[in-house]
Amino acid sequence: MKASESELKSVLGEHNLSILTQHLEDYLALLRQLEELDRNRDPGVLPQQPTIEKNLREHGSLMVSFALELSEQERQSVRSMFTWAKRWPLVFLIVLLALAIWESNFLARQMIGRLTRLMNFTKRIAEGDFSPIMPARKYRDEFSNVNMALNSMMHELNRRQELMIESHKLRAIGTLTAGVAHELNNPINNITLTAAALEEDYADLNDDERIDMIKDLVSQAERSGKIVKNLLDFARESEIKTEQLNLGQLLEETLKLAQNEIKLRKVHVDFDFDDNLPSIHGDRQQISQVFLNLILNSLDAMKDKKGRLEISIARADTPGFLVTEVKDNGSGIPGHILHRIFEPFFTTKSTGKGTGLGLSVSLGIIQRHGGDIRVESAPGLGSVFQVLLPITEVPAAIKND
Ligand SMILES: Nc1ncnc2c1ncn2[C@@H]1O[C@H](COP(=O)(O)OP(=O)(O)O)[C@@H](O)[C@H]1O
Ligand SMILES: [Mg+2]
Repeated sequence: MKASESELKSVLGEHNLSILTQHLEDYLALLRQLEELDRNRDPGVLPQQPTIEKNLREHGSLMVSFALELSEQERQSVRSMFTWAKRWPLVFLIVLLALAIWESNFLARQMIGRLTRLMNFTKRIAEGDFSPIMPARKYRDEFSNVNMALNSMMHELNRRQELMIESHKLRAIGTLTAGVAHELNNPINNITLTAAALEEDYADLNDDERIDMIKDLVSQAERSGKIVKNLLDFARESEIKTEQLNLGQLLEETLKLAQNEIKLRKVHVDFDFDDNLPSIHGDRQQISQVFLNLILNSLDAMKDKKGRLEISIARADTPGFLVTEVKDNGSGIPGHILHRIFEPFFTTKSTGKGTGLGLSVSLGIIQRHGGDIRVESAPGLGSVFQVLLPITEVPAAIKND
């Protein structure tokens, strides 16, 4: 009985149940009154019967209308529940969709941020900055795994780069040493030959011949000394000691340094310059070294030909500059390597013959003097190297005072 009462309460609600109970109790009381009357059959009370019956009818119809009202309420609530049940999946879907959009937005923003950071890191690595990516700590996501991998890659790259620089240095020292040995070989050979001839034929030679040979020995020994000095200057990035220079004179001196080589290779030299050219300011030793490099390169390029070397100095088209031209009819430089000839260590010559440093060092020297080196070449026909140097502002007359 208790259980069904609580069930009723849950279905009808406490308020409705109490009204209903009240109705039932009233109805029962009326029924009991009617029963009592029926049993006693007291004629004095009988006239009350129709009133009770009327009350009973009224109460009955009241209860019926209340029940109808209740069932109508219930129907309404069931209907609204159905309407809700129909709409609910739609609402659920909309909420789900909104959540999905928000979530994907959130994830995309997180990913794009990290990807942008990663992109910046790779850009930095491409520019040669191998410092580790921060934070180097390992989080539990794929991006920090990538960062860790990049960090170890950069560590390895750094290590290998250092190794490469080291081996490059070693190779440069090797080729430079070989170059020195080769350069010195010629004058030492000449000295040995001349000294041996002098020793052997001493008695048969007259005084003039002996003096000539001794002079030859001295000049070859001087040449050896100069080569060593040139090569020392070559290796050293010495400071520029500027002085007033007459390019014509300087080139004449430089040509003398190469005279032996020129004679050996039977190269015809054409040297042309105007006496009235303005002077330049520069380091005598270094500029002479540049011209020597160009001349030796030309001699190397004309090995298999009847060589012709044309050297000239003139005012450049660029105002305020002198241009020295070293022109040969040698092998020329193929187009595909022309842009590389000024690179340090770039050489097409065999090991021991070329160091690949001549042009790169020369360009460095000329640029430090405010000038430039230009080249034009026709493969098979020859090359022209132009050295541009700024004319000095100090007139020679003032400098001499
Ligand atoms: N006058 C030239 N004619 C042809 N090729 C040249 C000439 N000058 C330079 N080159 C090319 O440029 C390269 C680099 O020259 P350089 O820097 O002086 O080094 P190296 O003479 O030791 O090879 C040479 O190996 C050669 O291939
Ligand atoms: Mg050279």
